[in-house]
Amino acid sequence: MSHIQHNIVTGFFSVVLLTATTAYAAESVDVIKLRMGAGSPGMGQSKSELCQGCHGENGISVDEMAPHLAGQYALYIAKELRNFQTGARTHQIMSALATTINDAELIDISTYFASQKKMQGNGQGDNPVGEKLFLKGDASRKIPACENCHGVNGKGLAPNISTFPVIGGQHKGYLRAQLINWRSGERSNSPNGMMNQFAKPLTDAEIEALADYISGL
Ligand code: HEC
Ligand code: HEC
Repeated sequence: MSHIQHNIVTGFFSVVLLTATTAYAAESVDVIKLRMGAGSPGMGQSKSELCQGCHGENGISVDEMAPHLAGQYALYIAKELRNFQTGARTHQIMSALATTINDAELIDISTYFASQKKMQGNGQGDNPVGEKLFLKGDASRKIPACENCHGVNGKGLAPNISTFPVIGGQHKGYLRAQLINWRSGERSNSPNGMMNQFAKPLTDAEIEALADYISGL
């Protein structure tokens, strides 16, 4: 290989590497801090051993039905755990498990998972029906754009606004199940029942399309 060819080839690879690094650019410590809540990530890591069995060591789970918690807002994780404790949200496994931790543990564990590198899809959410609903909603059926609240690529509206969970890159199976549960009313713990309202008009095919698209983000 001539020098020139060699330089072109290595040049090409550095461009590819640079692009890949930019696409998965690490978030700054300051940005991550804004979603971490008030707990201790170190304490949370050890207290969350039981949780890691299903949600993964770093909050990236392998089970389609167990949501990733990595990079999720601590205050959202904490709210959901308290909702499982009180029965405002129910799930056979989680309702039982949430009552085994006290509030200090709950806060530390939430902070630990929030401190982790944010969940990331495989980038294959190439679904035009899902994409359109996500970006534009459907005004004729009073479905708002998901992006309005869940943020660009479903990564959250802002680092310090914990009301709207990260959904981009979440497991497809989990997203599908939640949308079905919002639609049926089986899950009803969103503020003012807003998610129930938005999911009500969705068809099965639209739920499938949304879960497909959002899980890829
Ligand atoms: C045996 C598996 C298992 C274990 C262990 C487990 N979880 Fe879960 N967790 C699940 C499943 C499955 C769901 C989905 C519940 C649903 O469909 O509503 C879930 C849901 C959650 C959610 C809701 C996330 C969201 O995006 O709304 C939180 C928060 C959570 N778990 C935290 C924990 C914590 C903290 C622990 C440890 C104390 C724990 N889990 C242990 C299986 C598990
Ligand atoms: C007006 C704001 C708003 C809009 C628009 C919105 N959501 Fe949500 N969504 C929320 C809030 C708030 C929650 C958290 C509910 C809770 O507190 O448990 C949520 C939760 C969810 C969850 C559960 C996440 C988890 O980890 O369990 C899914 C899935 C979801 N939304 C999907 C969608 C989709 C799909 C759309 C578009 C069709 C959409 N949302 C539009 C506010 C919104």
